[in-house]
Amino acid sequence: MGLFFHVLLWLQLMGCTGPQDGITLSVGGAPAELDFWQSLVGQFEQEKGIRVDVLRQPTDTDQRRQSLVVALEAKKEDPDVFLMDVVWIAQFAASNWLQSIEHYVETGAIDLDVFFQNVVNFVDRYRGDLIALPIYVDGGLLYYRKDLLEQFGIEAAPETWEQLVESAEKVQRHVRKRLPNFHGFVWQGAQYEGLICNFMEFAGANGGGISIMDGKIALNTQENVKAVQFMHDLIHKYKISPLSTSTEMREEQARETFQRGNALFERNWPYAWSLHQAPGSIVKGKTAIASLPRFSSGKNVSALGGWHIGISRFSDQKESGWELVKFLASYETQKKLALNLGWNPGRKDLYSDPEVLRDMPHLTRLQEVFTNARPRPTLPYYTQLSEVIQRYLNSALTGMVTPQNALASAEREAQAVVDRYQAR
Ligand code: GLC
Repeated sequence: MGLFFHVLLWLQLMGCTGPQDGITLSVGGAPAELDFWQSLVGQFEQEKGIRVDVLRQPTDTDQRRQSLVVALEAKKEDPDVFLMDVVWIAQFAASNWLQSIEHYVETGAIDLDVFFQNVVNFVDRYRGDLIALPIYVDGGLLYYRKDLLEQFGIEAAPETWEQLVESAEKVQRHVRKRLPNFHGFVWQGAQYEGLICNFMEFAGANGGGISIMDGKIALNTQENVKAVQFMHDLIHKYKISPLSTSTEMREEQARETFQRGNALFERNWPYAWSLHQAPGSIVKGKTAIASLPRFSSGKNVSALGGWHIGISRFSDQKESGWELVKFLASYETQKKLALNLGWNPGRKDLYSDPEVLRDMPHLTRLQEVFTNARPRPTLPYYTQLSEVIQRYLNSALTGMVTPQNALASAEREAQAVVDRYQAR
């Protein structure tokens, strides 16, 4: 690092270059992930001599979105840069909250060819302008305890949901004798965005899903009713998922339950892998990953998730913000995120990096999962739709409403949301 940067950094750290010089980055996640982000940002500060304050957000995507929406609606200068869930971008773009970064592509400051083309084109562009870049892609996965399957003579991870229930019932019955809180299967059923992702996977594995065609939303279909009934039955009939599934289970609750040794199967995103394998984790070396099961007549489906980085249109530090975006989207940084957090890079050039492949041998298979992953509807009013659907799905999981009635009501209310926006 040159003398100039040392002096600049020193001046900035001493606050001598004015309050305007630091930029703010909003990012959320598990506590260990946030600590890693802090160290990553430290490297950026050293390299670029630009101070960055990390605004730590929770893990839950809905809470993260709300705190950003409050700042953006008020046209606040901070945060300058933030991570966005793939499902918010259409809304943020349509609200005109994102700074275009198109001119950086035009000037050759960034090469878009290294990213997944379909992701960039469908998600990161709005009316032709580039407004974000992918940091990582997510797809739902099945984690399982290979030691327990072996112990109970189960040869392979389940391919169908029916097989999963069978194995989970058997193992749970035995393991409960020494671990009373043990459950066969944990997944995300609380009333929040994660429930939509889980629903799409169960429904998709049965040939259903959320479809919007020509302004008509289809939710109350036979395929979906069967899928929701199955989700309900996991808790109340087979009793292999805890009662708290519908009240508490988000990503971190499911991960912690599995990591405490209290579950056989877990549905989660790729981030859980490196935490399960971390030193001190009691499931380290005992965990394996498989594709999510399908119903005997269907095919396996993963929900497509992921996080993208963008610059606020209200930022007063856009050039520095761009430096940070470029740093976070770079090969080196995404490699660090993959190696340290197990995140699946938004850049496809990292999927053939020997070091990444050595640490994450499952990546090659995941690339396939991501290519076939099912996106949620890309709509500026997606969040409103999601809120309606979450609410009804969740009440079906508690048993308050039958799956059929829940889906019928969800369809009616969701249609009203669609109509309202189409009429605008
Ligand atoms: C993960 C996914 C995101 C999804 C969220 C749901 O963070 O990357 O796309 O919306 O989980 O909880």
